[in-house]
This record gives sequence, C-alpha cells and structure tokens, in this order.
Amino acid sequence: MTEAHFIPQPYTKTLENGSVSWQSPSNIALVKYWGKYGEQLPKNASISFTLSNCHTKTTLSFEKATSTEDFQFEVYLDGKKEEGFEPKIQKFFERIERYVPFLKDYKFKIETSNSFPHSSGIASSASGMSALALCLLSIEKQLASEEISKEFFNKKASFLARLGSGSACRSIKGPLIVWGKHADIEGSSNLFGTKYPFEVHDNFKNYQDTILLVDKGEKQVSSTIGHNLMHDHPFSEQRFQQANDNLSKLIPVLKEGNISKFIKIIESEALSLHAMMMTSMPYFILMKPNTLEIINRIWNFRKETKSNVCFTLDAGANVHVLYPEAEKETVSTFIEAELKPFCKNGEYIHDQTGNGSTTL
Ligand code: PMV
Repeated sequence: MTEAHFIPQPYTKTLENGSVSWQSPSNIALVKYWGKYGEQLPKNASISFTLSNCHTKTTLSFEKATSTEDFQFEVYLDGKKEEGFEPKIQKFFERIERYVPFLKDYKFKIETSNSFPHSSGIASSASGMSALALCLLSIEKQLASEEISKEFFNKKASFLARLGSGSACRSIKGPLIVWGKHADIEGSSNLFGTKYPFEVHDNFKNYQDTILLVDKGEKQVSSTIGHNLMHDHPFSEQRFQQANDNLSKLIPVLKEGNISKFIKIIESEALSLHAMMMTSMPYFILMKPNTLEIINRIWNFRKETKSNVCFTLDAGANVHVLYPEAEKETVSTFIEAELKPFCKNGEYIHDQTGNGSTTL
C-alpha cells in the first residue's frame, strides 16, 4: 500500500452537522521507535503493548463552515478551552488534508479528556491523536459514496494518527501492534500499525503495566527534537539495526512464553533509547535520580525473589513496571512498599494490555 491509497474518491453525500466520539488508549513500546524520515516515517520497526486504563475520550462536533479558507476548530480539555493544543492540531490538519479533504468544509469543536491526570507526564499524544483520527474517519464514513470496510477504516485511522504523532498509529488496535516495515513480519508497514500476526504465549496475555510517576513536569526536550537528533547521530545506523534485530528476537520469545529472554530485550531497549539521548549532540538526560533508584530496586527484587518483573521507559523519567498477570499481587505489594516512595506525591497508575479504541 502507498500513501495514494488513502486519498478518497470525491464524496457524494452531504452532511450539515453532527458529532462523533471515540475512546482511544495509550501504548507502551517494547521495541522503541526513535528516529524518523520523510513525513513521520520510522527509521526502524517498533512493537508496543496497547494499554487499557490510560486513554483519551474525544468528541468531535462539526457544522458547515461559512468560509472555507482556513481550518476552523476549537479545542476543549476537560471542558476548558485549551489554546495551547491549537498549533499541534493545525499542523496535523495541514498534514492530513489530502487524505480527509472535508476538513475546511466544517467548523469543528474538539472536546477531549484524559483518564490520567494531565500533568502526570504521561504523553497524551498517542491516545489523543488516535482518538481524533478515529473521529475524522467516522465523519468520512458518513460522507463517502462507498462502504468503508472495518479493515480499511482501522488502517486509515492508524495512517492518519501517525501523521499526528508517530507512536499514535499503534493505539487503534491491540494488544500487540507493530509499526514499521520489518522483513520477518508480513504486512508490516511504515505507513500504519498492524496487529502482531504471530502466536503469543499465555504468559504475555493481560500483561500488567504499572506506571510510576517520577516526574510530572514538562519534558526538557520534546520527542520531536529527540527524533531529529538521530539524523547526525554517531550510533544511529547501529541503533536502527539493533531495534530491528530485537524485534526478530522477540518473535520466538513471545511464542514460547520465555519471560527471562523477554526481560533482557525489553530492558535493553529502554536503556538503548536513553543511551541515544545521552549520546546525541546536544546531549540530554530525561531520567531522574528516582528513575535509577527504581530500576535498581526492580533488579534487586528480581534477584531476591525470582520475580519476572521488569521495567521500560518512554521518552521521560516515568518508569513502566511490566509483569505477568500471575504476579499481580506480589508485584503490587512490592510497588506499594518499595517503589511508591520514589514517585512524585506517591502517585502511580495500574494498567494492563488492552484491545484498542472503541466508539462511544
Ligand atoms: O510518537 P512520538 O513522536 O512521541 O515518539 C515516541 C517515542 C517513544 O515513546 C520514546 C518510543 C515509542 O516507540 O513509543
């Protein structure tokens, strides 16, 4: 498939106004995407667990615009007008206009809310952009002359979400989504996320992710800048190769249910991502002292108890604690007793893998 497949035939139906709503979750990458080219295309393939409790709900209301020169939209977060989101959405609309050519025909009201606190440091771009992309697709479905299949709907929603925020393309479905062309995964694409097509052992079903909120402030370096720093990075080519190799290694691990091998790949991916940040020019560190303290406590706990708990990180200081459902009780007790003191205001969020977005 190419980009051209996502340009629709001229619409034949008309719509004066309406409203559509979607709920879409966040996701956590196991093999990380860090470095892009062209229009939001990944330099390596990535795979993520789709989450469940951390999600965004978005209602998109629309009415015919009086002028069709500019995009017209207003954004509300938790009922309050949020002008801070406008530049990102303006850019998103500019990028996707070719693929959803009705954007300038309507005046939009985007009402959005997150299940997790706004200031938690949990990126809302994956859940937020995927929810908005799905809403736009629901409108297109009503305008299109031909029936849009479920499969194409999800593909195009993922394709649009990617143009808002790369990792957002992995939030449409679940529980394991691949994004980026990979030789071992048929059907994988740089343009959109696809469901992981191979067998997954029961050990990895309902995998748990407790997100420890270490630092709730604004990130010092945005992921846009971080991705760009991979262009002239001395280790970029090796890193892209490493990520693709790790995804290959994960295939038998997921099939066999080999959690100890899983842990080695997942933790190495998290630290390699942050190593790229530390070796960029300019260099930067997103981990905080408490991030390292938590990692060490997880390693000690694993050594002492033979638990299968491990960690991963996204582009920030928060720690995602990953563990099998069978260890839910013991690991929850450990988190509450030993890791909570290293969280800002003792805050953390329990989550687990989920099946992706739902229409409301
Ligand atoms: O989707 P972006 O551009 O915010 O980049 C996300 C990058 C990581 O979260 C660090 C890794 C990933 O694959 O999600």
